[in-house]
Amino acid sequence: MEIIIKENGSVASEAAARVVARLVREKPNAVIGLATGSTPLVLYKEMIRLHKEEGLDFSQVSTFNLDEYIGLEKDHEQSYHKFMWDNLFSHINIKPENVHIPDGMAVDVPAFCAEYERKIVEAGGIDLQVLGIGSDGHVGFNEPTSSFASRTRIKTLTQQTVADNARFFAGDESKVPHHCITMGIGTIMDARMNIMLAFGEGKAEAIAATVEGPVSSMMPASILQHHPSAKVFIDEGAASTL
Ligand code: GLP
Repeated sequence: MEIIIKENGSVASEAAARVVARLVREKPNAVIGLATGSTPLVLYKEMIRLHKEEGLDFSQVSTFNLDEYIGLEKDHEQSYHKFMWDNLFSHINIKPENVHIPDGMAVDVPAFCAEYERKIVEAGGIDLQVLGIGSDGHVGFNEPTSSFASRTRIKTLTQQTVADNARFFAGDESKVPHHCITMGIGTIMDARMNIMLAFGEGKAEAIAATVEGPVSSMMPASILQHHPSAKVFIDEGAASTL
């Protein structure tokens, strides 16, 4: 695990964007795993800037998103579909057919999840996976106790995650979906490189447990200690208890 501590989240996000840009320049048809949440927003802004100002070309890139809420239509204000199109895809030259995001309205969820895994394999596997981290150490929506061998599947959000994410639903926990589709920890660990971003003191405890704690399914992100190529981009707040 490589830990990169920068003075703030913007500088850390720019450093992470350089890793993404290097991959896309070296491998124009790279397969990139993407995350949602507030953390990767500056990374996505920087990817857009690199596209617009430096011609970074996404025309052959494929993407697979980590997760989606079950029961939200694609155009729902808080769906991860809408988040990704609003904050990244609409601003770069990616082909819509190369974008993959779990479908929260899938009728047959297990069949959808198996197909999602098959598409990742068919695309050649994920070259680089972007990750955030939940305050309880979840990655994607792999909550504590998630199996390290898990693949894309349905999960139930913990009460803490429902409470954490209520801020996106006007603070109303009753509006937060309780189920989701998420790539599994096994899926994430198969990515050839993982880059995790975490900013602010609210993430400090989870980052310390991820980086220095025992590898435990109670802290899902800690499995990254076993990944051959994992970089953790953090600011001074998230690094404050290391
Ligand atoms: C959600 C997402 C995670 C994300 C986490 C942290 O639960 N499923 O992928 O890492 O939120 O969000 P934030 O970056 O807003 O703190």
